Amino acid sequence: MSEWLQCVICSRKYEIADVRYTCECGGLLAVGRLPLAVGREVFDQRRSSRKTIDQSGVWRFREGVLDVDESQIVTHPEGATRMYERDGILFKHEGENPTGSFKDRGMTVAMTQAVRVGASAVACASTGNTSASLAAYAAQAKLRAIVFVPAGKVAAGKLAQTLAYGALCLQVRGDFDAAMRLVLEASQRLGIYLVNSINPFRIEGQKTIVWELLQDLDWNPPDWIVVPAGNLGNTSAFGKALIEARDAGWISKVPRLAAIQACGANPFYRSFREQFAKRHRVAAETIASAIRIGDPVSYDKAVAALRDTRGVVEEVTDDELMSAKREIDRMGIGCEPASATTLAGVRKLRVSGVMRKSERVVCVLTGHVLKDPDAILKNADQMIEIDPDVSAVERILASGR
Ligand code: F0G
Repeated sequence: MSEWLQCVICSRKYEIADVRYTCECGGLLAVGRLPLAVGREVFDQRRSSRKTIDQSGVWRFREGVLDVDESQIVTHPEGATRMYERDGILFKHEGENPTGSFKDRGMTVAMTQAVRVGASAVACASTGNTSASLAAYAAQAKLRAIVFVPAGKVAAGKLAQTLAYGALCLQVRGDFDAAMRLVLEASQRLGIYLVNSINPFRIEGQKTIVWELLQDLDWNPPDWIVVPAGNLGNTSAFGKALIEARDAGWISKVPRLAAIQACGANPFYRSFREQFAKRHRVAAETIASAIRIGDPVSYDKAVAALRDTRGVVEEVTDDELMSAKREIDRMGIGCEPASATTLAGVRKLRVSGVMRKSERVVCVLTGHVLKDPDAILKNADQMIEIDPDVSAVERILASGR
């Protein structure tokens, strides 16, 4: 057995093909495998290959992702996103994935596993990006797609994508946390394969955000990796990726993780402040709808990730994250509100002295600027309606705008 499922609490093992998301003891499951014996030069060589699975920024790292026959892989391909440097800060733009968010990296693996276990329908609860990604990959795999979203709380771009790719969209009267509880129950009762990040295969794919950014930097690790934190799937994946990269000898130093939450959706920040003495749950409210989550599913894995990387959790207000979004947008890069918590977090951690200006920082931008058009249109002050008359144009330009 080259891979298995293992409980992160009691270490009990299960077969890799078991369709289950939690242990008998209630703990989360993770994919376990023998120590990675592949050298990073293999990944570097694949970067110049024309094969689809080598061009995927997920399957390029396949030895550490999933042991599966190549013919079974459901890939767009995804990943291979750009890294930008602006004003001394690096931005890894995961909004450049096929459906405009990092979710595609986990979805290609979860959907591959769904096909492997013979699923006929896949489901998730979502604040919008997971649902768009699920819908696209289910369409490719020809599986029935059902998404559970909080009614009226999903950004327009994400909802439109989800519908366009053909998923059935159940608008749950309640918040994301209620939709999450419902999909857990529904998937168990109705035998639908669940592809939220509680699904350990999602985490295996999302690890490649970190591996690819390390590769982008020629395997010279930055001092910090900064990530928005909602349901805590990414935070968990980043911790696992870093430890596996160190154990495999791909890097000699483990960067510190900084997980950033919105003040109105900050249960993980609250727990961090108390050295994780208590798991908090909150009723979440923030303009960053992607991370409007009060009871994150991957809490235990994320705590381990923070401990393993000497990580920190910070919170930022909606004003702080929207002002950071404006900065990122005005750099010509652009991102959705949740992604901008990263830059807002860096600013705050520098002021408090946790992060030094001389330290190398990579912010992971998780979603594309067009995901949430309302967040831009509601705050734009450059739109002026005019008559089709050149003197009107002249007047406005003369006014110095
Ligand atoms: N950024 C974006 C753009 C997201 O869509 C999400 C999560 C996060 C950050 C937080 O990542 O949950 O791994 O801590 N979106 C999920 C969804 C919940 O349904 O699309 P996390």
